[in-house]
Amino acid sequence: MKSSTLIAALGAVVPIKALLRFGCSELTVQRLDPLVNPGVSPSPHLHQIIGGNSFNISMDPATHDLAALSTCTTCQFSEDFSNYWTAVLFYRARNGSFKRVPQIAQSGMEGTKGGGMVVYYMSDALFDTAQKSKVTAFKPGFRMLVGDASVTSRDGARKFRQLSYTCMDNQGSRTPETIDFPKTPCKLGIMANHRFPTCWDGKNVDSPNHQDHVAYPESGTFESGGPCPATHPVKIPQLMLETVWDTSSFNDKQDFADGHQPFVWSTADQTGFSSHADYLFGWKADSLQKAMDGHTYVSAPMLKTQSITEQNKCSVKDMVGENFDGWLDKLPGDNMIM
Ligand SMILES: *[C@@H]1O[C@H](CO)[C@@H](O)[C@H](O)[C@H]1NC(C)=O
Ligand SMILES: *[C@@H]1O[C@H](CO)[C@@H](O)[C@H](O)[C@H]1NC(C)=O
Repeated sequence: MKSSTLIAALGAVVPIKALLRFGCSELTVQRLDPLVNPGVSPSPHLHQIIGGNSFNISMDPATHDLAALSTCTTCQFSEDFSNYWTAVLFYRARNGSFKRVPQIAQSGMEGTKGGGMVVYYMSDALFDTAQKSKVTAFKPGFRMLVGDASVTSRDGARKFRQLSYTCMDNQGSRTPETIDFPKTPCKLGIMANHRFPTCWDGKNVDSPNHQDHVAYPESGTFESGGPCPATHPVKIPQLMLETVWDTSSFNDKQDFADGHQPFVWSTADQTGFSSHADYLFGWKADSLQKAMDGHTYVSAPMLKTQSITEQNKCSVKDMVGENFDGWLDKLPGDNMIM
């Protein structure tokens, strides 16, 4: 089966046996980053955040138990109180003004507040419907960062293997993937794909740069079943986030002349190479491990679910108090185009 066909089937929420794939509504959009800039409000750039409502300016791993402190989550699997976030995409008009690009839900998830994201946890490659490999679910307090908000070069971005963009014609579009922003208008929108490393050192739930406790396979790839390095021997699930940015109202051909494209991340990066995503594990008890061991998938009968209406009711209050709707003279945080 061609990958685009399978994804189209997934998009239609056909309960096949395969992996964990679920939608989450927007929890909040704020200039906060409790992983990289704990206690800093506002943080350097704007993020869009999904998951449990214990999200806060600081989330000290020693005391902040996401599953215990959250009373709701924006995710379909209602035992997942994790938080996941990425930068926010802006359109930059030719006069230099900025406008936030809205997100849209994937097909079958219409009505998801703010568009949200789709989250995957896989034990084998996306298109391997058997998902037979054993993976060790994340431990309480686990957190990680993939990508680097300050990188604006292709070489810098290559260090992270699987951060990419898909120029979407329609909801089924999944190829090709590029590591910089698409250079032509995308009819439906731009999907940002964030795949996290899949090997863990087995000891540390975090590290000073939030990256060194995880690693990529030593040879090959996660998809090809490549082995983990001796320094990071524990195979963890492939966590993947998909965010669809609805660029359809910003597709003026003039904005794409001469190899230019008009989108910038909230980091002020107009290349796309600064793509990054943050994860704070917060599944209740051993619910994620049970689901990963279950070898069922999209429909994970051992997990509790909630409706999109319920997901949409969960939010956190605005702690930063910043307006970023409408046309802006500058990006939130006054970030200057890199
Ligand atoms: C966020 O942190 C502040 C300060 O510690 C605390 O007062 C507040 O209750 C927290 N909010 C949530 C939703 O946990
Ligand atoms: C900049 O251009 C946008 C898009 O054409 C327009 O809506 C906006 O009002 C302009 N802003 C200024 C300050 O002229």
